[in-house]
Amino acid sequence: MNNNPKVIVGAQFGDEGKGKITDLLAEKADYVVRYQGGNNAGHTIKVGETEFKLHLLPSGVVHGKECFIGNGVVLDPEVLLQEINYAKENGLDVQLSIDPLVNIIMPYHKLLDGVSESALNDKSIGTTKKGIGPAYEDKFGRRGIRLIDLLDRVAFKEKLTDVFQLKKKIVEKVYGKAFLLNFDKVYSEYLEYGSQLQKYLTDVSRKLSKEKQKSIIFEGAQGTFLDITYGTYPYVTSSHPISGSVFLGAGIAPQELNTIGIVKAYTTRVGEGPFVTELYGKLADYFVDKGKEFGTTTGRKRRCGWLDLVMLRYAHRLNGFTSLAVTKLDVLSGLDEIKVAIDYQIEGTETSYPLTCSSLEKCEPVYKSFAGFAVSGNEKSYDDLEEKAKVYLDFIQEYLDVPISILSIGPDRNQTIFL
Ligand code: GDP
Ligand code: IMO
Ligand code: MG
Repeated sequence: MNNNPKVIVGAQFGDEGKGKITDLLAEKADYVVRYQGGNNAGHTIKVGETEFKLHLLPSGVVHGKECFIGNGVVLDPEVLLQEINYAKENGLDVQLSIDPLVNIIMPYHKLLDGVSESALNDKSIGTTKKGIGPAYEDKFGRRGIRLIDLLDRVAFKEKLTDVFQLKKKIVEKVYGKAFLLNFDKVYSEYLEYGSQLQKYLTDVSRKLSKEKQKSIIFEGAQGTFLDITYGTYPYVTSSHPISGSVFLGAGIAPQELNTIGIVKAYTTRVGEGPFVTELYGKLADYFVDKGKEFGTTTGRKRRCGWLDLVMLRYAHRLNGFTSLAVTKLDVLSGLDEIKVAIDYQIEGTETSYPLTCSSLEKCEPVYKSFAGFAVSGNEKSYDDLEEKAKVYLDFIQEYLDVPISILSIGPDRNQTIFL
């Protein structure tokens, strides 16, 4: 493969296995970079009997690679410091650089994530309540606190004073809730976080732009259909997980990328929002049990359904996948029949992927049916797979006109087939 930077992008609603694939590819890379999202992400990497669950640290940390947090991330310093300790306690060598322009998740962001979700009642988004949306709101509202601000006692105090007053008013007057945060405590705590994180500060944009010969992996969080613009708005996250966001979120000039779309062999979603191929009852339980479909960050049971190629075709348009990594193929093993959505219809009329949730809710999937197959998880090459599994995979490649480059047939590193 060429030395263009690689981007690992979730092609569905998140939790496709980005952590596992990033870890695998990191072995031969120099740098691994997060460019968006925050600790709403939960990336699991299994190494032997150890399972690493990472929220903010790029998955390259497991291979001891140099890791970067770009300006497009929103960073909870308390969570990051805990995660650095957790990584070190588990024997990992943490080599981390954080862009000084990264926006900080403050305690009032977490508070507001909770109260705004409660106020939505049955229309709630089902956020992770990590303060992600409110932190991005402040970034774009031009009142965010950035990591570099935590290093200037005077300027930080001034900024925090203004924002604190505003947030207090919003929580008390708009939401009618108690604002129990104490200014002095927050101020001193976050100054302390600043001084602890100071040693990681690096101009990430400058470093990545200068070192073009390095092999770089950009590790996406969330997935295409949680994108703030292109996802199932408003049931989305507040950042851009899609590949184009790499340039802004890491601060590098637009350039050619190897964009690897991570596709779970079926579909899952945590949180609310439309899901055209969703299953209920026994089949949904099958996926939850066999795929261990519980959220890494919140422990919530994931909603499950069939693979949806209409979604993936749209995801390919947005991301420009150069190849796909299909994960969790082993989970399909044991089903007599496997379905894949190849079209949507609204009241019997074929429709392309619609732009609004209300239209998505009306979409009926048109399925193509495949015979079930067995995957043991011990297959070493594509040729080792059963013919019926190849038929399923070939159909996906042909429909999307994108080659599958990686097949994941279990959570372990060695349960992977490179094509
Ligand atoms: P991410 O957020 O995209 O990194 O995905 P998560 O880590 O949240 O969820 C994927 C889960 O599936 C993790 O528990 C992985 O260990 C597991 N996993 C990844 N690939 C496979 C696979 O091919 N088969 C099975 N059975 N599990 C997998
Ligand atoms: P990874 O990186 C799956 C979902 C939440 C909710 C919506 C908005 O592990 O794939 P937020 O807290 O971001 O404001 O919540 O987005 N969500 C995820 N779902 N995987 C994730 O990350 C997610 N991060 C956010 O459940 O529906
Ligand atoms: Mg996850």
